[in-house]
Amino acid sequence: MSSIYRLPAVLALAAQLLALPSVWLIWHTWTYFFSALPFTFGMAVVLQGLLAAVYGRWFKLAVWWWFIELLFPPALFVTMTLHLPSLAFLSMFLLLLVLYGHTFRTQVPYYPSNRATWDALVEFLPADRAFKLIDVGSGLGGLVLSLAARYPNSEITGVELAPLLWLTSALRARLGRSGAQFVRADYADFDFSRFDVVFAYLSPAAMPALWQKARREMRPGSVLLSNEFMIADNQADTIVQTACMRAPLYVWRM
Ligand SMILES: C[S@@+](CC[C@H](N)C(=O)[O-])C[C@H]1O[C@@H](n2cnc3c(N)ncnc32)[C@H](O)[C@@H]1O
Repeated sequence: MSSIYRLPAVLALAAQLLALPSVWLIWHTWTYFFSALPFTFGMAVVLQGLLAAVYGRWFKLAVWWWFIELLFPPALFVTMTLHLPSLAFLSMFLLLLVLYGHTFRTQVPYYPSNRATWDALVEFLPADRAFKLIDVGSGLGGLVLSLAARYPNSEITGVELAPLLWLTSALRARLGRSGAQFVRADYADFDFSRFDVVFAYLSPAAMPALWQKARREMRPGSVLLSNEFMIADNQADTIVQTACMRAPLYVWRM
């Protein structure tokens, strides 16, 4: 795994911290030379965002981080003017930490796949026998619950790192009397050779490690499915794209 200092969230924070003394320097230089023209706090906030975005680019952060860097200081400024109670900040922080804290390391946030994708992947499941499928990063469990209902004789497992997401999916399975299994774990600790089908909806950052693991462990004849995200330099055997699917489904026969 890459050093913690190379993680985008750490670099993004470094860009904001680096922008602070730069803004301070520009503010004081401006005030010294152009004392008749006031340099307002609002201007400093905008400049902070601009410089952080430039530093973010210099750190080779992905494009969407530049916008986050740009908008973060004004958003913080506006939020502070709302004078919200500190408990609101603490509650929001804790909620986001439980939901997305792991994203800091994995770079895979939660967003669900849709029913069109679930229907499209059925074509790649063994039609004549029971099978074992794992959804690596199962989120709230929608796909796993749907497949477990459709294939009651098969073993459908979801593995999820985020505690609150896993708990919700496990409760949904329990309340709905589903045969689906949900495990709270890192999928890296699962042996892929046990499964006929591995489904992933992760992020571009996670794909190289997933591919290495799939190549090492998946049995010949098993199927790797990735929703939306391609594996660089590895042409998929099939790419499914329908009008109602938000993103393609990539299929590799191992
Ligand atoms: C984009 S969501 C997909 C959710 C679900 N598979 C679906 O199709 O609706 C990706 C999920 O993977 C989880 N995740 C990311 N890295 C993981 C890991 N190493 N082990 C287990 N879960 C992980 C995230 O917490 C997130 O819930």
